[in-house]
Amino acid sequence: MKKTALITGASSGIGLELARIFAREGHSLLITARRKERLDDLKKELEQEFGIDVITFPIDLADEDSPQKLYDFTQKQSASVHFLVNNAGVGDYGLFHKSDWNRQAAIMNLNIRALTHLTHLFLPSMVEKERAYILNIASTAAFQPGPFMSVYYASKNYVLAFGEAIANELQDTGVTVTTLCPGPTESEFQKLANMEKSKLFDRLPVATSQQVAEYGYKTMLQGKRVAIYGALNRIAPKIVSLFPRKFVTAVVRKIQERK
Ligand SMILES: NC(=O)c1ccc[n+]([C@@H]2O[C@H](COP(=O)([O-])OP(=O)(O)OC[C@H]3O[C@@H](n4cnc5c(N)ncnc54)[C@H](OP(=O)(O)O)[C@@H]3O)[C@@H](O)[C@H]2O)c1
Repeated sequence: MKKTALITGASSGIGLELARIFAREGHSLLITARRKERLDDLKKELEQEFGIDVITFPIDLADEDSPQKLYDFTQKQSASVHFLVNNAGVGDYGLFHKSDWNRQAAIMNLNIRALTHLTHLFLPSMVEKERAYILNIASTAAFQPGPFMSVYYASKNYVLAFGEAIANELQDTGVTVTTLCPGPTESEFQKLANMEKSKLFDRLPVATSQQVAEYGYKTMLQGKRVAIYGALNRIAPKIVSLFPRKFVTAVVRKIQERK
């Protein structure tokens, strides 16, 4: 069985850069996202440049039965998942009571349910290995409530709490769980989440997807449980914890408000 890195959301942004890094380091890949052509192009690029095997599996992970389909596919491919990278995620900007329910449901289905289900499906075989890694992508949004992106912030809070808890459960196994928390990052996320209306990206330093992916890969190998990208982003949760949550939430609202 081939040692494989399974990466969700590999068709753009942080996931695509993570795929390039895993390929550079010689790992076989199983990459997934909805856009098939993007996955096919990436497969061609990485196989040519690094001489590794790349399997693609286009699927909408917000559908309830998709994680099981993805798992069944890996079994048919005899792919042994040593690295599970739960990266795919979406957000939505605006007042919750005026939002489209289907978008909010998609955020929860993808950011929470798919990530949890994939972890549940792959962990039993991972704990039998001498060493295996889970890299979950949360966000600095995980550390406080986020007015105008309430469901997204809450979903990332879930990813953080879930990851830390299972990292503890797995401490006597060869599996580590790293929760990567990027701050604002150049990718397709901002546009897709309607965040071009928000001042957040103007007010905070913005990293490239490549910088975040390199940091995520490095901290995953170190087995770090919570990896926050960027010095300012690392200090922020400490400062946040010193103030009343109502005040912190009001500050986030100010940062997130419309231009
Ligand atoms: N960019 C930021 O500022 C930022 C900050 C903190 C955390 N993050 C987190 O980083 C992760 C990666 O985001 P990104 O910034 O790289 O954004 P991105 O460029 O929009 O990439 C998102 C990826 O998720 C995939 N995806 C979206 N919906 C999907 C679905 N229903 N089923 C399967 N795949 C789906 C997309 O592919 P398809 O469209 O082809 O399906 C794409 O590959 C997310 O979890 C995000 O929350 C981003």
